[in-house]
Amino acid sequence: MRFLFINGVNLNMTGQREKGVYGERTLDEINAQISRLLSGHDCEFYQSNVEGEICSRLHAAGSEGFDGVILNAGAYTHYSYAIRDAIAAIATPVVEVHMSNVHAREPFRRESVISPVCRGVVAGFGMASYVLAAQSFIISQS
Ligand code: DQA
Repeated sequence: MRFLFINGVNLNMTGQREKGVYGERTLDEINAQISRLLSGHDCEFYQSNVEGEICSRLHAAGSEGFDGVILNAGAYTHYSYAIRDAIAAIATPVVEVHMSNVHAREPFRRESVISPVCRGVVAGFGMASYVLAAQSFIISQS
């Protein structure tokens, strides 16, 4: 299957910021491990700190033949109606992911404005959140 992994704002700092929450591995190391664990599948990775760029990448993904998009929008999750509308604008299913358990953290992280337009949500499993999200597509196709 073909997957696009989109990481949003501040995810490029993974491995440097809040290591107790997000771990010690860099985003490149995480992406390499995702590719290894999903070998046999086609994984493409994109990261941007810019809300509009994430919207544009989602728009393009809608006509690029991906089976699924796995999206960690970072803090945009909690307030970006623009990203919510971009997800709603495409037919490609999107799964929302978070490395941390957002429900066990500050109250503002419990709200997601993108969940209602996503196929599902995976949170709290670190790097594995991304892999579990991709596996949801693999399992539903089998
Ligand atoms: C995050 C959780 C968000 O609340 C936070 O703003 C992030 C990362 C996660 O992966 O746990 O930047 O999406």
